[in-house]
Amino acid sequence: MRTARDYTRSALKGATRPLGWVDRERKGELDFWLDHALPPSSIYQITFRAADGCNLRCKTCHFSMDYRKGQKTLLMDPELVREVVDQSRGWVSLMGFSASGEPLINPQIDKMIGYVSAAGIKSKIGTNAMLLTPDLSRRLLEAGLSILKVSIDGATAETFETVRVGASFEKLCDNLEAFWRLRNETGAKTKIVVNTVITKDNEHEIEDIKKNFGHIADKFAAKYPSTFGIMSSLCDYSPSAMTQKRCNQLVKRMTIITDGRATICCGDNQNVGVVGNVRETSALEVWRSALYNEWRGYHRSGQTEKIPLCKDCVFG
Ligand SMILES: C[S@@+](CC[C@H](N)C(=O)[O-])C[C@H]1O[C@@H](n2cnc3c(N)ncnc32)[C@H](O)[C@@H]1O
Ligand code: SF4
Repeated sequence: MRTARDYTRSALKGATRPLGWVDRERKGELDFWLDHALPPSSIYQITFRAADGCNLRCKTCHFSMDYRKGQKTLLMDPELVREVVDQSRGWVSLMGFSASGEPLINPQIDKMIGYVSAAGIKSKIGTNAMLLTPDLSRRLLEAGLSILKVSIDGATAETFETVRVGASFEKLCDNLEAFWRLRNETGAKTKIVVNTVITKDNEHEIEDIKKNFGHIADKFAAKYPSTFGIMSSLCDYSPSAMTQKRCNQLVKRMTIITDGRATICCGDNQNVGVVGNVRETSALEVWRSALYNEWRGYHRSGQTEKIPLCKDCVFG
């Protein structure tokens, strides 16, 4: 059994440890920190919302909701990413770029990945792959992208296009194959992960997704949908959705939205879980702020109803 001392030691060297693919130990560590008054002294992940807008309207996602109609797409400024990267050397393991929205909409996405790589931090993009042209693929590989996580919610065009409204299955297959070929030709170290949100529409195709895309993916992940507190229709979308009273997001990652505000959850689509602003104080100060710790305490004691963002969330 690991002790607080072991966890402190590994948290302190968090920025230099290699990322494991199925990092069970890391999950145990994060759950451990959820039970303690102080947050870990290193953070596993900072996630930037590279683009607050999307080219699709997936059934599981808040972009399909009415409140999104007509909203302007906002883009992350690479300068803000550069500032946070400069502050974060040595205490952040991974930087992601898909806290809701489609990151490839941001034309400077490769520049931001380049800043992260140059600082020796791992990088991750989650994408619907519709805009993953050969030119952009090359730029992302050259920028040193560590993980490309592609969302595939069906093994057939019919299922995929039913869930991923506005997407083309053919384009997904072409773009992904081209990325995989280019990665192998260039010898880039980028890992390709396929992510599936399990719903009644596709639960019968999960094994086929693995079969059909096994030759071009390094890892598969599948999960039930979250409601993020606002999509109550998803509660019965998945038969196994469950309500939980604690969530390790608060010790695992901090999310930064396009105007520099930081929120406790990558799925905080309406920005109600804001705990600070990295344009005003450093990312580390926000991570250790009193409000952040107070909210961690509510997760620790199972009182998530005290946090407006978390009170109605169903985490699958
Ligand atoms: C919100 S998307 C943003 C990145 C990109 N646009 C994409 O679709 O991959 C990040 C991931 O969340 C997944 N997702 C969508 N709706 C979800 C939900 N209700 N609960 C959990 N994950 C969800 C997507 O399938 C995707 O893999
Ligand atoms: S899941 Fe991703 S691709 Fe689909 S609507 Fe949401 S942000 Fe866009």
